[in-house]
Amino acid sequence: MTEPTRPTSGAKPADTIKYRKNGLTRGVTDELAENMKQGWADTERADLAPIPQAAHTARRRAELSAAYPGETLVIPAGNPKVRANDTDYPFRPSSDYVYLTGDQSQDGVLVLAPAAETGHDATGHHATVYLRNRSDRGNGEFWLDNHGELWDGRRNSLTENERLLGLPCRDVRTVLDELRAATGPIRVLRGHDAGVEEVLRDKTDKTTAEQDAERDEEFRVFLSGLRLVKDEFEIAELRFACDATARGFEDVVRVLGTDTETAERLIEGTFFVRARVEGNDVGYGTIAAAGPHATTMHWVRNDGRAKPGELLLLDAGVETNRLYTADVTRTLPINGRFDALQRKIYDAVYAAQEAGIAAVRPGGMFRDFHHAAQRVLAEHLTSWGLFGDLAADKVYELGLHRRFTLAGTGHMLGIDVHDCAHSRTEEHVDGPLKPGMVLTVEPGIYFQEDDLTVPAEYRGIGVRIEDDILVTEDGNENLSAALPRRADDVEAWLADLRA
Ligand code: GLY
Ligand code: MN
Ligand code: MN
Repeated sequence: MTEPTRPTSGAKPADTIKYRKNGLTRGVTDELAENMKQGWADTERADLAPIPQAAHTARRRAELSAAYPGETLVIPAGNPKVRANDTDYPFRPSSDYVYLTGDQSQDGVLVLAPAAETGHDATGHHATVYLRNRSDRGNGEFWLDNHGELWDGRRNSLTENERLLGLPCRDVRTVLDELRAATGPIRVLRGHDAGVEEVLRDKTDKTTAEQDAERDEEFRVFLSGLRLVKDEFEIAELRFACDATARGFEDVVRVLGTDTETAERLIEGTFFVRARVEGNDVGYGTIAAAGPHATTMHWVRNDGRAKPGELLLLDAGVETNRLYTADVTRTLPINGRFDALQRKIYDAVYAAQEAGIAAVRPGGMFRDFHHAAQRVLAEHLTSWGLFGDLAADKVYELGLHRRFTLAGTGHMLGIDVHDCAHSRTEEHVDGPLKPGMVLTVEPGIYFQEDDLTVPAEYRGIGVRIEDDILVTEDGNENLSAALPRRADDVEAWLADLRA
């Protein structure tokens, strides 16, 4: 009986195999080790075509390369995170890595090395993706490693990945040595791969640590800004995400009782099924907020009941298999009809959303839609007598409406639900809208249950309407228009689906 050495996997160092405490198997006979090496078919695939985003990722990398001549650029996918003991959370690669490679592998690292250093063209960079290779069957890695392919499933070979991604691919077990050997300035996208960061930290002069951190932060900001304008591939993905999300909302309406209570968790779970069947996941934790829960912006506990007579605020988005997410909210009368007060508040939010969407056009400033929508909300709230004698202009100037509108009216959307969040303020919230940008317009009014400044009947009502808007050459397109928004249309849609 031998105690085999545990082979390395990913970028982790080799160590000795540790059998699971209380696991039922111990050790491996030489006969079994020998037996497991043989009898496996060659499954290498030579018929793989490049993934559809490959042409786009090449252009995106070229843009990045042009901004950092002579510097080595390191963009890790990240490593899995432990959920409990020996089980991990589902892996989700870093968005910038996905954007630049189209790959979604855990532990992957994209390196752009200055071309002069790698002996390639005198300018630009030579891009390589470092990835986990197939598991070696000869040394037992295939089955003795807890993350060998026998347990986790077949991986693409490096050659297969080269075909798919249109990029040179190398074994990720070599990446740390490559980075140790690299000369010249290096920037890394921090926060995803501690092993890579440690190697780079060890290389640097301790006295420049602060400048290095600043340079890396600038790199993060630049990467985030690269994604502001979406290309056709991305727009098609977002369109699909919105369409699948609309189907998920329909699924929810079908399980929503008109005269019986429904658990918020059932609503969340129903939407999740759609997200997993048509996409990769939900793009963020579903907010299934019934009754007063709708006034809590980030209600993801979803442990309440949706009761007839209340409103259900459902904020949910399908994330596609290429990791683009929709972000849509509808506020629905659970019994099928808004009562008079619910409708009054809903119509105010609808009017604000209309004003916000109308302000989304190329050449306008990003902020315009926010001001347009908030202005309408302030006017409605003022007209309901919530600010005493103050005029709407004054309320708006003082920002008093924000007690009830709470948040900004929207954000960029893409691979991240709050996309491009680190980009430069001047090109984002203080910048102009450009064709190809996609943003949410999501005004809302939220009367907290314990707010003594509003009439008792308002308390516990929350309404948000959220759509995903593409800036076009001459205006905008609502990508989530498949879901009705006007109060009458919402009621008719509910009635239709329940007929
Ligand atoms: N669901 C997150 C948001 O609307 O921003
Ligand atoms: Mn949103
Ligand atoms: Mn949302």
